[in-house]
Amino acid sequence: MNVMVIHGPNLNLLGTREPEVYGSQTLADINKMLEDEAKGLGITLKTTQSNSEGALVDAVQAAAKWAQVILINPGAYTHTSIALRDAIAGVSVPTIEVHLSNVHAREEFRRHSFISPVAVGQICGFGIESYRLALHAARKLASPK
Ligand code: DQA
Repeated sequence: MNVMVIHGPNLNLLGTREPEVYGSQTLADINKMLEDEAKGLGITLKTTQSNSEGALVDAVQAAAKWAQVILINPGAYTHTSIALRDAIAGVSVPTIEVHLSNVHAREEFRRHSFISPVAVGQICGFGIESYRLALHAARKLASPK
């Protein structure tokens, strides 16, 4: 089973970016944790990060040729990007929306997601653990029993 993990804008700054909100682990730490976890689950993983909306749309479209499930943390594009929403709707690959922070417990503008209506589900608020949970959810999606 193949899973594509797509990280959005500013997630390359994890480790130093608002550590009180996003924790002290880096994006490399998150990807390493996911790689290790994926091995145990029999999942082949690819990860990518971009700060650009168009590059994220391209990543979703490319993932459709390879992945059975997409995990995406769209960062701030969650709250603004119809293009990313349309890409996810357009490829019809089951997609799980992931956030480190609990977006519902923060500023009002973070409560709205353009991605949630086209995602299988959203996992947020558990820090790096959100990604681990999402990977397990991806595994379940592929073989529900
Ligand atoms: C985030 C939440 C978004 O609101 C924010 O813009 C991010 C990170 C998270 O993982 O908690 O960049 O997606």
